Amino acid sequence: MTNTEHIPVLTQELMALLNPVINGVYLDATLGGGGHTRELLKRLGPEGVVIAMDRDEEALERAAIEINDPRVRYVHGSFSDMADKLMAMGYHEIDGVIMDLGLSMTQMKDASRGFSFNSGEPLDMRMDRDLPVTAGEIVSRWSERDIERILREYGEERKALQIAREIVKQRKRERIETCLQLAAIVERVYRKRGRTHPATKTFQALRIAVNDELNQLSEGLSNALKILKQGGRLCVITYHSLEDRIVKRFILAAERQEGTLVRLNKKPIVPLRDEQRRNPSSRSAKLRGAEKL
Ligand SMILES: C[S@@+](CC[C@H](N)C(=O)[O-])C[C@H]1O[C@@H](n2cnc3c(N)ncnc32)[C@H](O)[C@@H]1O
Repeated sequence: MTNTEHIPVLTQELMALLNPVINGVYLDATLGGGGHTRELLKRLGPEGVVIAMDRDEEALERAAIEINDPRVRYVHGSFSDMADKLMAMGYHEIDGVIMDLGLSMTQMKDASRGFSFNSGEPLDMRMDRDLPVTAGEIVSRWSERDIERILREYGEERKALQIAREIVKQRKRERIETCLQLAAIVERVYRKRGRTHPATKTFQALRIAVNDELNQLSEGLSNALKILKQGGRLCVITYHSLEDRIVKRFILAAERQEGTLVRLNKKPIVPLRDEQRRNPSSRSAKLRGAEKL
């Protein structure tokens, strides 16, 4: 395994919760490095199907070469319109949906994608190259108020105002084009470094804004509910509190108000200490599952 390869998170726990039926039809809505799809394929029989979706065309191309299995159907697109995509392919009711949110390690480590603060590459951060706005455009064009708002709302950044001010001050002197430039601005505001890089929250906020991640997630969850058959299962892995809150509230509302889902676990499942040690990116992961009624 190279160090840019994505290590799948909570795989055994996810499979136990999904509890695949032998010849079932499943959607892996976040294919990434294909780790979860591979595990699922091991549990499916010859008539089983995995529809493997990702917003990132490069992820799909890589996986299609590596996972050479006739039971996989690859789809480019966002999970926010999974129901339409699946129906167009002739799948009206499926047995399960996996959503493993955020970025893969491969995307994170690919400097040209502009997600990493150690890179001198342009601030891009689009998961899908067809998206209209890059992180660079946000920091160069948006007003101080709007930048502050996304840093606060999507990054839960307590120094949102100071960072937004510093960005606007700096961009009058020079164009802020690279990840390194932005990371340096945030470092100046923070002055000292803790255990995590001070720009972590700023980068998270920009990434969420560029990819409209929270709306995508809400839409994705509603779509999953539409496409699941009775007894079908939805399993979602989140990596920060904003995402987890959306998933938790969605499942609870469906259970208590609409009676359309029932929780498979009341408390989120988190990685064991051993997994966290082997794969530090798994540390913030939370898995929630629900069954369609
Ligand atoms: C954490 S990775 C998934 C890793 C995968 N489960 C594995 O085991 O290799 C998240 C993936 O979801 C994709 N993604 C994020 N948002 C998406 C969306 N709205 N629609 C489809 N794919 C999305 C990203 O491009 C990325 O490849």
